[in-house]
Parts: sequence; C-alpha cells; structure tokens
Amino acid sequence: MDFFDVIRTRRSIRRFDERPVEEEKLAAILEAANAAPSAGNLQAYEIYLLRDQPALTRLAGVIGNMDFFPEAKVVLAFCTNPERSVLRYSDRGRTLYALQDATIACTHAMLAATALGLSSVWVGAFQEQAVAEALSLPASIRPVALLPIGYPGETVEPRSRRSLKELVHSVK
Ligand SMILES: Cc1cc2nc3c(=O)[nH]c(=O)nc-3n(C[C@H](O)[C@H](O)[C@H](O)COP(=O)(O)O)c2cc1C
Repeated sequence: MDFFDVIRTRRSIRRFDERPVEEEKLAAILEAANAAPSAGNLQAYEIYLLRDQPALTRLAGVIGNMDFFPEAKVVLAFCTNPERSVLRYSDRGRTLYALQDATIACTHAMLAATALGLSSVWVGAFQEQAVAEALSLPASIRPVALLPIGYPGETVEPRSRRSLKELVHSVK
C-alpha cells in the first residue's frame, strides 16, 4: 500500500475477527518497529509479544472494560527501558527519550499493521502495575503502550481532526 494510503486508511479498530495473524506479517511488523529511529540509536525500549492464549487472557484480565481486548490475536506491549538511555543522556534520556523511542516504535508497528491489511488500536489507559505484573516485567521496564492487532471485525468512519490552520503555528 502507498504510504499516504496507509496514513489515510488507518483507523483505531476495536473489534477483531477470528483470522489469525500470519507469522510473516507479524515478523514484518516487528521489523518495522525495530527500524524506528531512537535517540542516539540506543533503542531505550523493549517489545513484549503476546500471542499465546494464556498470556493474552492474563493481560485482558487486567485491562478493565475494553471488551475488544480478548479478540486480539496478537498484542505488542511497548515498554520503556530508561537504563539504555540514561548513561548517555541523563534525565532527558530517562524521562523523555525512552518514552519517545518506545512510542515511535509503536507508531511504526501500527502503520505496518495497516499496510499489511491488519488493524490495531493503541491502548494507553491501563494500570501500569497490573500490566507489569501480567507481563512479569523487570522493575525498570515500564509499559507505556499496548497494541492489540488482528483482522478487522468492524468498519469505522474516519475521526475528525483539528484543522491545520488551528494546529500549525507558523513561526516567522
Ligand atoms: C497515546 C494514545 C492512547 C490511547 N489510548 C486508548 C485507549 O486506552 N483505549 C482506546 O480504546 N483507544 C485509545 N487510543 C486510540 C484513540 O482513541 C484514537 O487514536 C483516536 O480516537 C483517533 O481515532 P483514530 O485512531 O481512528 O484516528 C489511544 C491513542 C493514543 C495515541
């Protein structure tokens, strides 16, 4: 798919059908995430991959009222790993770059999923501690974005956006 078609057609999809996510597509999504830029190329994040039913069920159990969660065939959990950035960038690495690294990788994964005919929704509303426990994360690893992925089980109209006139501030 053309890049701008990917941007134009991506939607947050919260219903998934029964089709599994093919191995090649999952591999391509993970490669796309890994290709994302990061501060100093330090990649101060980790990706936790959930595709086995016990792990998916465990995570869905701590996510709360998002009933689409159990329908996802794959969930990628993007987590910051600030220790990878802090040595070079101190506080800015710990508090900002690690978060930016993790979330741009998630964006790459989300767009790659769309390009492959899959759907996803970025999930940020969760109890970090509960998710960390469900994923058995080490203490320094912080979950910041979950990306359930599957084939779409719904069609969704595009959501409106702010106008560019309002959003973009021209600096002279
Ligand atoms: C940082 C972030 C957090 C989000 N958290 C959630 C969430 O917890 N649950 C959810 O259903 N959607 C979540 N979304 C999806 C947004 O609701 C969605 O992107 C927005 O409404 C625009 O719709 P669109 O993605 O279809 O263009 C999140 C998106 C982002 C970028």
